[in-house]
Amino acid sequence: MANIGIFFGTDTGKTRKIAKLIHQKLGDAADAPVNINRTTLDSFLSYPVLLLGTPTLGQGQLPGMDAGCEGESWQEFIDGLSGMELADKTVALFGLGDQVGYPDNFVSGMKALYDAVTDRGARVVGAWPSAGYDFNTSAALIDDRFVGLALDQDNQYDLTEERLDSWLEQIKTALAA
Ligand SMILES: Cc1cc2nc3c(=O)[nH]c(=O)nc-3n(C[C@H](O)[C@H](O)[C@H](O)COP(=O)(O)O)c2cc1C
Repeated sequence: MANIGIFFGTDTGKTRKIAKLIHQKLGDAADAPVNINRTTLDSFLSYPVLLLGTPTLGQGQLPGMDAGCEGESWQEFIDGLSGMELADKTVALFGLGDQVGYPDNFVSGMKALYDAVTDRGARVVGAWPSAGYDFNTSAALIDDRFVGLALDQDNQYDLTEERLDSWLEQIKTALAA
């Protein structure tokens, strides 16, 4: 088992694609990405470092039944995290959204993941600047920085690889811990 676990939720597959790209770039340091609706709590908790990816659906929601997904996803998984201790975990978040279609909730779902893990003691690394995007509001901003890497495959797919490389470089020391 590698040190880094990559877990993602998805509705139409874009977040899965990004998770696979991250895995390719990290090589042996990370295990293959797993859809959050196909894992167990034990497997999730077995990694000291977690890379967690989510799209934002509905109006600023995490994927799951409430957001209109066909199956369970992040929402149901974090509901099941209550009572869990994550104090020994290092977490980095990546979130997909559409800043043109949903400018008032751009990548807001990342904040729900951030809250779920920080409430249980996890250390979150990989905050990302909000410059270079055009949107009105996002719940995922703290002090003008996103709580994780914001990606927009709908409008800025050509910037994704560069953003990803720069973000992975930024967090590489934390990922190796
Ligand atoms: C019904 C619906 C609601 C969405 N709501 C939001 C939103 O509130 N904020 C946002 O940034 N993107 C929103 N999006 C855009 C998706 O997050 C984006 O297309 C993402 O890349 C989808 O990833 P996936 O293929 O992994 O599901 C929404 C998309 C759909 C279809």
